[in-house]
Amino acid sequence: MKPLEVLIFLGPPGSGKGTQAEILTGKLKYLHISVGDLLRENISGNTDLGKLASSYVNSGELVPDDLIIELVNSSFHDLQKKDSQFVGIILDGFPRTINQAASLERKIKDLGVIIKAVLYLDISDEKIISRLQNRGRNDDKPELIINRLGVYRKQTEPLLDFYNEKKLLEEINGDQNSEIVNNDILNILKEKVV
Ligand code: AP5
Ligand code: MG
Repeated sequence: MKPLEVLIFLGPPGSGKGTQAEILTGKLKYLHISVGDLLRENISGNTDLGKLASSYVNSGELVPDDLIIELVNSSFHDLQKKDSQFVGIILDGFPRTINQAASLERKIKDLGVIIKAVLYLDISDEKIISRLQNRGRNDDKPELIINRLGVYRKQTEPLLDFYNEKKLLEEINGDQNSEIVNNDILNILKEKVV
């Protein structure tokens, strides 16, 4: 049996991780896990996780690694329950720290799944700001966008080297329109035999 595949979407706020993950799950059988969406659902549902996470999400800071790792690990268990339905899982917004990436390495080893590609959506700061200001989510206020970008540069950008060294990083020009970005992603996935 083919091992389940993991696709990782990596990129700054507003780079199109969620948009591309949605388009892709409309075409290919992946389970889409958006850590940001899960956190926002927990915050609006006032769950224990939501209570712990809300001050971080609402200030554009990263939620502590242990909470996020537990959340993602439980999504992997959901995937295993539904295994016949999906070829794999799309991680949108995870990992975001080296510590999270190390935990993912351990998890995939345990489960015998493989990372097929890390899809890095590269985008200019100008585009990020104009896209997010137009969307207007709670954390899309100008000062929070700047903070999220700073957090990304400091804590998440080191993952580019981490995955480049593993020969998994695929860079995509995220400034282009959604359809072109999606075509670029599909072409990359076609070439990747794992
Ligand atoms: P999260 O919800 O993941 O936010 P983010 O990373 O800041 O990214 P966004 O969701 O804002 O952007 P996106 O890349 O998904 O782009 P989108 O497709 O929406 O995380 C929120 C918070 O949760 C974090 O700040 C943190 O507190 C916490 N968190 C999450 N993961 C965590 C983790 N692993 N560890 C710790 N904490 C974590 O597109 C943006 C807009 O642009 C949309 O309006 C869209 O319609 C538009 N658009 C998209 N693509 C295009 C295009 N090609 N052309 C024109 N417009 C486009
Ligand atoms: Mg998103």
